[in-house]
Amino acid sequence: MSQKPRIQISPSILAADFVNMASELASIESAELVHVDVMDGHFVPNLTIGPPVVKAIKGAARSPLDVHLMIESPETYLEAYIDAGADILGVHAEACSHLHGTLGEIRKIGERRERTVRSCAVLNPSTPAAAVEYCLEEADQILVMTVNPGFGGQSFIDAMLPKIETIRGWIEKRGLAIDLEVDGGVTLDNIARAASAGANVFVAGTAVFGQADRKLAIEQLREKGEKAF
Ligand code: DX5
Ligand code: ZN
Repeated sequence: MSQKPRIQISPSILAADFVNMASELASIESAELVHVDVMDGHFVPNLTIGPPVVKAIKGAARSPLDVHLMIESPETYLEAYIDAGADILGVHAEACSHLHGTLGEIRKIGERRERTVRSCAVLNPSTPAAAVEYCLEEADQILVMTVNPGFGGQSFIDAMLPKIETIRGWIEKRGLAIDLEVDGGVTLDNIARAASAGANVFVAGTAVFGQADRKLAIEQLREKGEKAF
């Protein structure tokens, strides 16, 4: 059996105040990761930020950047986001014709830069777990979307829980050190369900930035996740 994975909270800055990003980032310094949502207006209907803004965020963030690419042809932009400061780089299975190769390429670019860059495969709600079954060895993290990506503040889709259980089962069976992340609608009310299904990394936008005391919000989420995992 693999070692018990660490519970990590990854606040999504999509819900932060972009004008005051430096102080917003300072308010979440107790979080293990900083989740950065990149949207291209094609893969998802919303448009957010590109590499120069990711680079600025990297300069001000205290924790590693968990960059979530919701873009078409992500393979074209791997170097740009890694050079901008991504420590974890997530690509959607639905956007990659060669997911296995793209995940491997993320690690290789990191090696060429003499940095550790962790590869992450992301699944939309309608994509079955099987889409990553044959790429697990190339992935450092799997992200199960618990909303249809594009916007913050949506409701958690409970029907994703069996998918999380299936993927955690494969990770355990093969003894892999893969983190299993959930993203979308995570709150104090549902984090325990996601954790007991096997998730150990939790993206939270509204649930963190919607609270005045971010440190407390992060602590409460982590505590509930730890108890249920
Ligand atoms: C959705 C994004 C999420 C979003 C999460 O497309 O990938 O990361 O910011 O926000 P909440 O936690 O508010 O659902
Ligand atoms: Zn995200």
